[in-house]
Amino acid sequence: MSEIVSLKDPTRPLDQRGRVIHDLRISVMDRCNFRCPYCMPKDAFGEGYRFLSSAERLSFAEITRLAGLFVAIGVRKLRLTGGEPLLRAGLPELIGDLAALPGIEDVALTTNGVLLPRHAADLKAQGLDRVTVSLDSLDPEVFRQMSGGFGSPAEVLAGIDAALAAGLGPIKVNCVVQRGVNDHTVLDLIEHFRGTPVVVRLIEYMDVGNRNHWDRQRVVTARELRDEIHARWPLVAVKPAYLGEVADRYAYADGRGELGFITSVSQPFCGACSRARLSSEGVLYTCLFASHGVDLRAPMRAGASNDEMLERIRGTWLARNDRYSEIRADQPIPAERKIEMYYIGG
Ligand code: GTP
Ligand code: 5AD
Ligand code: SF4
Ligand code: SF4
Repeated sequence: MSEIVSLKDPTRPLDQRGRVIHDLRISVMDRCNFRCPYCMPKDAFGEGYRFLSSAERLSFAEITRLAGLFVAIGVRKLRLTGGEPLLRAGLPELIGDLAALPGIEDVALTTNGVLLPRHAADLKAQGLDRVTVSLDSLDPEVFRQMSGGFGSPAEVLAGIDAALAAGLGPIKVNCVVQRGVNDHTVLDLIEHFRGTPVVVRLIEYMDVGNRNHWDRQRVVTARELRDEIHARWPLVAVKPAYLGEVADRYAYADGRGELGFITSVSQPFCGACSRARLSSEGVLYTCLFASHGVDLRAPMRAGASNDEMLERIRGTWLARNDRYSEIRADQPIPAERKIEMYYIGG
């Protein structure tokens, strides 16, 4: 469990809702080798889609510099995301620099897993603590439908094995559940990992971005899933591992491991949200559903000092008032453009 710095710490800004910053999620690559329809649907992200150029993406030195400034206002946990972060050439080198930052207690990576057999040992050697792997179904056909036709469950399982062998645990598996798509394969998935140290987290399908054709009817609530699972393998609630944990944790009553539910649609968790997101081109977002961000790359490339950058970051956090999931629970979804998930990571 990571230390939560005192709320009275004057160096730790509170946002408009009294929330501290604790996690920084850094997207290192906007491209992905999958085309999951709920995130990067093929019709929107086809051959002609213009991804960022290398010069547009933050360099490793720029990412490390910014991460150091975020530590100064309270960040203790870093998560590297994408797109697919393992498509970023030389990623282990960046991990080494980030893991060495004083104050950082946890460096994690979210990946679709297929490149893990190639990189797991190197990532661990450079200081990566753990990985979270996306895996929506063990049924090869359902999997392909949810990945846009790329990869296979066998490849992802090989990636998870490689991560386990490299010591990148505790490993979590993220499964986005969609009614009529993969909900009938959820029990198989969790049965596969029951009795292992791998923790499956079932995620409610969210209306991220503007292009995933979200439909509330497709959301299977955590409650429905929990009832179904509980009927088969009784569950007991477990306390959160840390303040503001995203997943609701449950243990199998027979001691055969743990499960998590991420209820961002049915039970929003904005009240304790301590996460900020940095896009691969250096825009800071204070919510997964934000429509605007604050550019950190331009001032940095124009020669801003650390103090100037820090003021920009601190000011952004002080002004933060986001609680999108809570608002969506009560009202129709605002029509304003939202950032895309592939661009900001999960
Ligand atoms: P741990 O550090 O292992 O607890 O990870 P985490 O749960 O903070 O992060 P992870 O990337 O594993 O999150 C899993 C999924 O939860 C993401 O892919 C998103 O779908 C969703 N999620 C994470 N953070 C947020 C958030 O701040 N808001 C919303 N609405 N959903 C989130
Ligand atoms: N709803 C819920 N989770 C999503 N993710 C991506 N798109 C969505 C969505 N529409 C999450 C998944 C995936 C991670 C990279 O982002 O957890 O594993
Ligand atoms: Fe790629 Fe993950 Fe998005 Fe799927 S959910 S397209 S694997 S970034
Ligand atoms: Fe945080 Fe925004 Fe998600 Fe709410 S909707 S938990 S404020 S990222």
